[in-house]
Amino acid sequence: MSTDQRVPDGAALVVIGATGDLANRKLFPAIASLAHRGQLPSNFSLVGVARTEFGDAEFTDSVFASIRAVDPAAEAAFRALMPRIRYVAGMFDEAATWNTLRAVLDGCDAEHGACGNRLMYLSTLPQFFEAAINGLSEAGLARDPEGGYTRVIIEKPFGTDLESGRELNTFIHQHLDERQIFRIDHYLGKETVQNVLALRFANAIFEPIWDRRYVDHVQITVAESIGVEHRGTFYEQAGTLRDIVQNHALQVLSLVAMEPPASFGADEVRDEKVKVLKSIEHMNTFDVGLGVVRGQYTSGEVGGETVNGYLDEEGVSPTSTTETFIAMRLAIDNWRWAGVPFYLRAGKRLGKRVTEVALRFKSVPHLALPTTAIDSMEPNTLVLRIQPDEGVRLEFGAKVPGSGFEVRTVGLDFSFREGFTEVAPEAYERLLLDALVGDATLFIREDEVDVAWQIVQPMLDAINSGSVPVHPYKAGTWGPYASDELLDAHFDHWRTL
Ligand code: BG6
Repeated sequence: MSTDQRVPDGAALVVIGATGDLANRKLFPAIASLAHRGQLPSNFSLVGVARTEFGDAEFTDSVFASIRAVDPAAEAAFRALMPRIRYVAGMFDEAATWNTLRAVLDGCDAEHGACGNRLMYLSTLPQFFEAAINGLSEAGLARDPEGGYTRVIIEKPFGTDLESGRELNTFIHQHLDERQIFRIDHYLGKETVQNVLALRFANAIFEPIWDRRYVDHVQITVAESIGVEHRGTFYEQAGTLRDIVQNHALQVLSLVAMEPPASFGADEVRDEKVKVLKSIEHMNTFDVGLGVVRGQYTSGEVGGETVNGYLDEEGVSPTSTTETFIAMRLAIDNWRWAGVPFYLRAGKRLGKRVTEVALRFKSVPHLALPTTAIDSMEPNTLVLRIQPDEGVRLEFGAKVPGSGFEVRTVGLDFSFREGFTEVAPEAYERLLLDALVGDATLFIREDEVDVAWQIVQPMLDAINSGSVPVHPYKAGTWGPYASDELLDAHFDHWRTL
């Protein structure tokens, strides 16, 4: 059971890039799951647009096959939609494609009661974004139709650096208003990422200690055990800095570090996120050399299996210096966080898949107990486990039973799986529903993208100038040794996960 009972108005969802990986692995199963939960209106249509020469029936079969592979239980609920699935085959840079789409959408309004509401999902490779938006616009599909809406969901990457990010935003705004644009970062659709807001702003006990007076430092880890898989060619151009830090990691950081918003309106929440991102100190080249560590995996063992090194992955240059791991120390120059380092680390082929935020608190001001009594004690830590084993853990010292006085770290654990019977929707499911009802709170606004690139750009410049070497690390470990040195300077260490 879900507590979310929202059912959007009738609409047509247009998936542009409908034969791609994202559409098949995530979007179609998410739509089927919404149908399964009773959260799709009866007058809903699905329209695929892609280059493959499919007819409606072949496309419908391929959609069903994707749903079956992910969630067979949702397939039956989705069957009712079958007569309302359409497909448009065509090149993105040809007007005919978009004119056909317009005719198909008019048909959806007339036959399926889609009410003129259109949610376009751009799930193509980024190099097709402009052609697709242009095509939509020239076919008159970028405007709100009479009595309905046009919204466009755009997938990351939102550019590849500050300049291209700005160019993309400028281009999009020539065709669409910001209120129509829903930039998606699927991390914001994760329940546990949203729980950062619940934990901070629905409880009186955390916020008073959530600042520089009590927090020593913060560690954010986005670790993956998988390698680059079949995405070597894409990854060569991206690297972990663009793939994870510019978006997912900085989004998580902004929720952890932002000020309480006045309300949960889309703009109020996003204003606070932008404000804190703006307070992150921009590094100069010298700071990047000291505060950023890059790594690249070599062959090793992950989960008992021997795996290739990055340089042997398909699509990767044998002399590549692209990072598959990055760690950094960020400073937030504001009243709340002055002097509290935020350490981020992200990478592929690490020891295991885990994303978490850990707030490490300061030690007690005076320790009356003999130091021998606290040998196995760490400072208090509050851990927000984003995935897997979603939950919250508070680590503190407790007396070891016995006649002596030894204190050891113990943990108070909350697990979402055990604490709730409600089933969490998948990130894409939640975000698609939000876009259908027009709630942009969990989508990225133009200025958020811009400020995130401003933080990352000096790092890209330093990397391009060759001043941030890439250190090898064995697959299945926790990145290069140099990343430990980032914290050594602070007399601390990365959490063992
Ligand atoms: C994507 C990245 O945005 O996020 C991938 O492009 C990465 O490289 C993925 O694997 C991680 O997402 P999740 O939800 O598995 O943590």
